[in-house]
Amino acid sequence: MAPRENLKIMITQTEIADRVSELALGIKERLGPEPPLVIGLLTGSFMFVADLIRALHTVGVNPEVDFMIVASYRDKRDHSGSVEIIEEPKVDVAGREIVLVDDIVDTGKTLARTVDIVLSKGATKVWTCALLDKPSRRDVKIEADFTGFTIENRFVVGYGLDDGGLYRSAPYIAIINSSG
Ligand code: IMP
Ligand code: MG
Repeated sequence: MAPRENLKIMITQTEIADRVSELALGIKERLGPEPPLVIGLLTGSFMFVADLIRALHTVGVNPEVDFMIVASYRDKRDHSGSVEIIEEPKVDVAGREIVLVDDIVDTGKTLARTVDIVLSKGATKVWTCALLDKPSRRDVKIEADFTGFTIENRFVVGYGLDDGGLYRSAPYIAIINSSG
């Protein structure tokens, strides 16, 4: 069965593209004069980062780009919702203005933890940007500085977000239709 038959589109490709352009403009307005360092949180943010940095280029921002690899455990058995840092940034963040990019802010633990790490390494300023926000799930008091879309407490896939490793390649955000 084709995977897409199980998916119900929540946010279309066009809606994402339009919003990414707006986010880039909003970020550009707040940035200082030096080239920023965009740090994407892998794996979920890879598609968003790829589009966001091209949108930044379009509005005249020339960022350096790096990634951190983090894993968050949402397993019901692990109520702590621990965040594992698998790889830290390779670029020296000291004295830099950072744009930290993730796919979604859910409990907020990933973003809070990674902001702390980057600040502890001497970043001058950390802006946070997430494509999606699920405020109803928050455990840690944190809001991204730039948010694409605020959504209800539904598990979503696509545009980099996965369910058990699958559906990252969908070019839209969708919910899995279990009856599909
Ligand atoms: P947080 O640390 O709880 O904010 O979780 C953030 C991470 O959980 C995200 O980077 C995603 O990898 C994952 N996540 C949270 N909600 C969803 C979802 O609805 N679909 C897929 N992954 C999600
Ligand atoms: Mg993620």
